[in-house]
Amino acid sequence: MGFGNAGPVILQGKRLLITGVITKDSIAFHAAERAQREGASVLLTSFGRVRRMTERAAARLPQPVEVLELDVNRPEDLEALTESLRQRWGGVDGALHAIAFSPEDALGGRFMTAPASSAVQAFQTSAFSLKALGAAVAPLMPEGSSIVGLDFDATVAWPIYDWMGVAKAALESVNRYLARDLGPSGIRCNLVSAGPLGTVAARGIPGFEQLAALWRQQAPLGWDTADPAPVASTICFLFSDYARGITGEILHVDGGFHAVGAPSTAAD
Ligand SMILES: NC(=O)c1ccc[n+]([C@@H]2O[C@H](COP(=O)([O-])OP(=O)(O)OC[C@H]3O[C@@H](n4cnc5c(N)ncnc54)[C@H](O)[C@@H]3O)[C@@H](O)[C@H]2O)c1
Repeated sequence: MGFGNAGPVILQGKRLLITGVITKDSIAFHAAERAQREGASVLLTSFGRVRRMTERAAARLPQPVEVLELDVNRPEDLEALTESLRQRWGGVDGALHAIAFSPEDALGGRFMTAPASSAVQAFQTSAFSLKALGAAVAPLMPEGSSIVGLDFDATVAWPIYDWMGVAKAALESVNRYLARDLGPSGIRCNLVSAGPLGTVAARGIPGFEQLAALWRQQAPLGWDTADPAPVASTICFLFSDYARGITGEILHVDGGFHAVGAPSTAAD
């Protein structure tokens, strides 16, 4: 689903920190690309052994960008990130949290056997990290700034998603608490609850394809698991001043799947 470049841009002059780009398929890559086309300046983050992959993707953006080091679980990386942003830009107007990880034994139908340590790891990397990132960028954010995270609807239990689903429920709550604590500084915090998209993280979940097939069947607007553009556009909307009255919110970009209980064809 394309979205042209003509017309006014909505992120002119915004300085955005975008985490979570690992390949050109990453949702964050599409958000970074869209944001640049909307007039934003962008910095990416990556860490450890996947850094080279991020750098390769970064070079393919409309304007190639720098990649800063960030393992979101390392306090020293978060401190260094604040300092790097201060030196490069002096401030930051938006941050995208596109980070999730769960050990294999806490996913794919292993809910009942996963050890606490794996559930805790999923929670720390996928939910607590939104607070960690927020705390690192908030001191540099002027009024009107915006933090955006990526959610998978956690109001229900899914097949295969297991402790990652529990971590997403925590993420939804962290989003509300961040909105509460950063709102008085004029900083907004929202989530985009996306339908399934065929990224590295998603394909790693056994059973992803069955869920994707169900989505295509049930979503009133239909759903293309190969098209992250609608999610990227909504992320940019939430970074923009058009969303200045929105915080603590979860916007579903899922073709309307969440609004219906069964595929319309079920009665046929
Ligand atoms: N793909 C989907 O179907 C889907 C649907 C809804 C929500 N999401 C969410 O979107 C976000 C981005 O995922 P994606 O699907 O683009 O996959 P992806 O694999 O491209 O991105 C996941 C990112 O998390 C990063 N990451 C993992 N551990 C990290 C750590 N300790 N520190 C810093 N970064 C770390 C990885 O490097 C990677 O860049 C995730 O929060 C995911 O849960 C994805």
